[in-house]
Amino acid sequence: MADERSPVTTHDLLRMKEKGERIVSLTCYDALFARLLDASGVDIVLVGDSVNQVLAGAPTTLSATLDQMIYHTTIVRRGVERALVVCDMPFLTYQVTPEEAIRNCGRAMRESGCHAVKLEGGQPMAATVRRLVDVGIPVMGHIGLTPQSVHALGGYRVQGREDVAAERLKADAKALEDAGAFAVVLELIPAPLASQITKALTIPTIGIGAGPACDGQVLVLHDMLGLNDRFSAKFVKKYAALAEDVREAVRLFAAEVREGRYPGPEHSFGK
Ligand code: KIV
Repeated sequence: MADERSPVTTHDLLRMKEKGERIVSLTCYDALFARLLDASGVDIVLVGDSVNQVLAGAPTTLSATLDQMIYHTTIVRRGVERALVVCDMPFLTYQVTPEEAIRNCGRAMRESGCHAVKLEGGQPMAATVRRLVDVGIPVMGHIGLTPQSVHALGGYRVQGREDVAAERLKADAKALEDAGAFAVVLELIPAPLASQITKALTIPTIGIGAGPACDGQVLVLHDMLGLNDRFSAKFVKKYAALAEDVREAVRLFAAEVREGRYPGPEHSFGK
């Protein structure tokens, strides 16, 4: 674990990889959960554009906007003292030109107070990553199943199963490392491929559906808490069943209100 009290930096993450210490990451979209995650020792709090699906109810991440991501990252940042906060850059805010990427990523950092940004894509994004890093913006890469390309990829399916695709992913990971990325998310790729990529890189890999060999793991918080009970996937382990707890609490409240049992005297004020 990085130092338990001092803020986690991108350099700490490199040291953790060198020492073989696993990196813990979860997504987060608000200050309340951010405080809970930070107090529980999460190393990287990722404000994922998955917020557009999980909280905003959209079918994909594609319609997430920069204003939306800056808003959620700003409120997450308020709840975090120790973890590294990463803002996920939404579709078309960094792909058009490196200059636009610098302007938009810079805006995200300046307005939200995040410590780094995350971009999807490998070799085609390397020149942009290099430019961002050169102006002082730490970048986390993201390859494999890149959700902003879901329509091009033909759905949410495991990537890199064929030899050619696996070789391309290895080259993507290396290109991101060479461009100066401080870490790379590997999403939905076979565990043996993730293991090879992890061994080949000096920067940490953070896996989601990429097996146990990655240097760290990330999950969508609402999935692992069992709050988002409309989503299930093989790689998601549910550590709680909060959707059922919420339904049960609301049923109880409704019954007590209807039967006149809430509020009781202990919840009411005298004169
Ligand atoms: O948006 C997101 O939540 C992500 C993680 C799944 C890595 O990108």
